Amino acid sequence: MQDNNYFNDQFNAQFLEQHMESKCFGKKVFYYEEIDSTNTMAKKLGKQQNTHGNLVLAEQQSTGRGRLGRTWSSPKGSGIWMSLILQPKIQSWHASMLTLVAALAVNKSIREVTGLNSLIKWPNDIVMNGKKVCGILTEMNTCNEKLQCVVIGIGINTNQEGFSPDIQDKATSLRLESGIEIDRTNLIVNIMKYLEQYFEVFMRSESLKELMNEYNQMLVNINRQVRIIEPGSEYNGFAAGIDETGALLVKTEEVEEGIVVEITKAVVSGEVSVRGIYGYV
Ligand code: BTN
Repeated sequence: MQDNNYFNDQFNAQFLEQHMESKCFGKKVFYYEEIDSTNTMAKKLGKQQNTHGNLVLAEQQSTGRGRLGRTWSSPKGSGIWMSLILQPKIQSWHASMLTLVAALAVNKSIREVTGLNSLIKWPNDIVMNGKKVCGILTEMNTCNEKLQCVVIGIGINTNQEGFSPDIQDKATSLRLESGIEIDRTNLIVNIMKYLEQYFEVFMRSESLKELMNEYNQMLVNINRQVRIIEPGSEYNGFAAGIDETGALLVKTEEVEEGIVVEITKAVVSGEVSVRGIYGYV
């Protein structure tokens, strides 16, 4: 549960840096009262050497970006809008797995700090009671096909007391779910600690081999009917969990030469969206 040691409803970058419980992640914080998007700034900073582990944090984003070209509402004072810069020596096509690593860390921290039973909606939304409380946007820079940096953008609806009518059916905040104001600094400190720990485990094999069981235990979609929406095709199936690459294994049916056969598809994140068959989760 939340301890109120750091409680202060305004961010203080120096205070944050000093209280980080990680070795490297979040030890350098670039703080902005207002910015277009922390991901855009982190991608700029990530072009410089030795910015691995640096964190870009904003009180407010004017053009926060979400997955699949969507916008991300980032009002002042009530959320956590931050982007972590990573410069790992990995194959660039392995970078998308880091988004699931981040989801695992954010979910664990939310559960620990708030006591709420949040879950992960594949690949990287954090949900509770059928609504989204956090989204993660992972982007990267490459130079001559070599990975220069990965930016993990995390948006957590923390202390909002309501949402606009267009998103109120799908979005919630930690405050709305718990009934209490959440210490944002404490949550960031926890996320950096767990993200660093899970990142180190990921780096041992450059895969989710050692993390997939824990991820699957937190997966809201597991053993549920899901609707897979890909550019140009949509189908229903039964979610069986992720594999070590982070793909969602979906059991579905296909007609082959007039016969219905059961197959398992490995759905790769990217342009895909997954829904429950009756709604968002
Ligand atoms: C999603 O669509 O679910 C991903 C949302 C990611 C939002 C965060 S807020 C901090 C960072 N900066 C951005 O512009 N986007 C990410």
